[in-house]
Amino acid sequence: MLILIDQSLAIGNPIYARDANWGKVTLDTSMSLTRAEIAAMRLSYSEVPLVDLPDDPFEAFATWLHEAHTNPIIVEANAMVLSTVDHEGSITSRTVLLKDVSEHGFTFFTSYTSRKGRAIHSQPHVSLLFPWYAMERQISINGIAEQVTREESEKYFAQRPWASKIGAWASRQSDFLESREVLEDRWKSAAAKWPEGTSVPTPPEWGGYRVFPLSIEFWQGRYSRLHDRIRYERANALAEWEINRYYP
Ligand SMILES: Cc1cc2nc3c(=O)[nH]c(=O)nc-3n(C[C@H](O)[C@H](O)[C@H](O)COP(=O)(O)O)c2cc1C
Repeated sequence: MLILIDQSLAIGNPIYARDANWGKVTLDTSMSLTRAEIAAMRLSYSEVPLVDLPDDPFEAFATWLHEAHTNPIIVEANAMVLSTVDHEGSITSRTVLLKDVSEHGFTFFTSYTSRKGRAIHSQPHVSLLFPWYAMERQISINGIAEQVTREESEKYFAQRPWASKIGAWASRQSDFLESREVLEDRWKSAAAKWPEGTSVPTPPEWGGYRVFPLSIEFWQGRYSRLHDRIRYERANALAEWEINRYYP
């Protein structure tokens, strides 16, 4: 395995990487992209205009999610990038899976004691991004995350496959892990405690967050970089949605 560490400054020069023993190696440029090749990577986007979006952003979201889900090229259409800010102002992003959506918001499940859980605890403003590049589309959402009810978390946890439930007990998500063996031992212990076929309780720190949206932006790639951006925005939960168009 090679880990990319450095790109030389001059366009066209090779890219360096570290091998498994942390030795510096020069990648064969025929098997890797030069900086000039990376700079030249571009697609011309389609002629599909962003028109006729409904007044209700959740309805628009449902249509786009359905189109992404039924598109054979899109993998995990419900995967979204969640960005959080911690108490020191440091931003982190990671992928989570959308598991529910309603007019109350966008729900995912995780560990409340994870890095993201700790960040949300101190700063509930988050962003969600659905990057459907193969469809020249993205949806970006800004909103406020809050924990769902315990009942809702338990209901979803019960639907998960047994191995995933055991995995949730085995993981202390985001904590330092000494070795892979420690994790596998924890999994085996949890599996011995709740063998397949028995009822696995929901870990106390595991549950859902619902992101209540204050803005939802739909982006559609268009010709000549004249992309369409339509943003639904509201000042607070009681305000009506405003629909605005922005420069690409
Ligand atoms: C496709 C995909 C889906 C994921 N879904 C989830 C998820 O639903 N919940 C979750 O906690 N982590 C999920 N992860 C793992 C997270 O990206 C992340 O590594 C983990 O939650 C720890 O993040 P944190 O340390 O910033 O809290 C997913 C990763 C990928 C690549």
